[in-house]
Amino acid sequence: MRVVVLTGAGVSAESGLATFRDAGGLWEGHDPMVVATPESFAAEPELVQRFYDERRAALARVEPNPAHRALARLEETLGDDLLLVTQNVDDLHERAGSRRVVHVHGRLRAAWCTACDARHGWTGTLLDLPPCPGCGASRLRPDVVWFGEVPYDMDRIEGALVDCDLFVSIGTSGVVYPAAGFVQYALACGAETLELNLDASAGSSFFHDSRQGTATELVPTWVEDLLSA
Ligand code: OAD
Ligand code: ZN
Repeated sequence: MRVVVLTGAGVSAESGLATFRDAGGLWEGHDPMVVATPESFAAEPELVQRFYDERRAALARVEPNPAHRALARLEETLGDDLLLVTQNVDDLHERAGSRRVVHVHGRLRAAWCTACDARHGWTGTLLDLPPCPGCGASRLRPDVVWFGEVPYDMDRIEGALVDCDLFVSIGTSGVVYPAAGFVQYALACGAETLELNLDASAGSSFFHDSRQGTATELVPTWVEDLLSA
């Protein structure tokens, strides 16, 4: 069985990372149009770099939770028949053991040099304008996709959606495109669709089955059921 899983901020919430749109979420104190657009980075680079430096530093203080670990276990069994697409810029799926992970919105622990176009793994800060390890220019920015920028790896994702038997959406509000449209694409291609989320998402009518609860409750149970079926 071929499975595509899409995760959002809800899968990392119980690890202690704030979601974007829930009360107390990341966007609450920050206007997304100020911290997550190329225009604001051009106008106020220090404010934007500080925001992402803080988010990157926060990763060192959190751990994967049972939902991340259950998805890694699923990959152990399904191998190449599972593609895990995440909107999250954290690295908790990888730290739980997942290898086939696509970061459609980029990664906090990576820096992109706008001088030479290279990407570098990055755990430190960028506000202090460190030189690019490749070309030496001080032109590194977070390797995250901002509003108005092109999401990563769409061809690979669409290829997997066309071929999948089951599409599962976990912990995402389903309001940010193109990821919010993956369910309709999978549905049109004949897949079963399942949603696991704290509350019904914006697109919940597109799912054959929509289960409400926390990721650490729902995801391990769903994986166990699938693997024992
Ligand atoms: P949101 O904050 O929009 O939605 C998080 C979803 O997770 C909500 O539907 C919550 O109900 C649900 N949730 C919260 N806690 C949960 C838990 N413990 N278990 C299960 N579900 C839980 O986050 P995303 O949908 O990921 O993009 O946001 C999508 C994109 O919007 C982000 O990738 C980011 C943002 O703009 C960029 O920065 C490009
Ligand atoms: Zn460079």
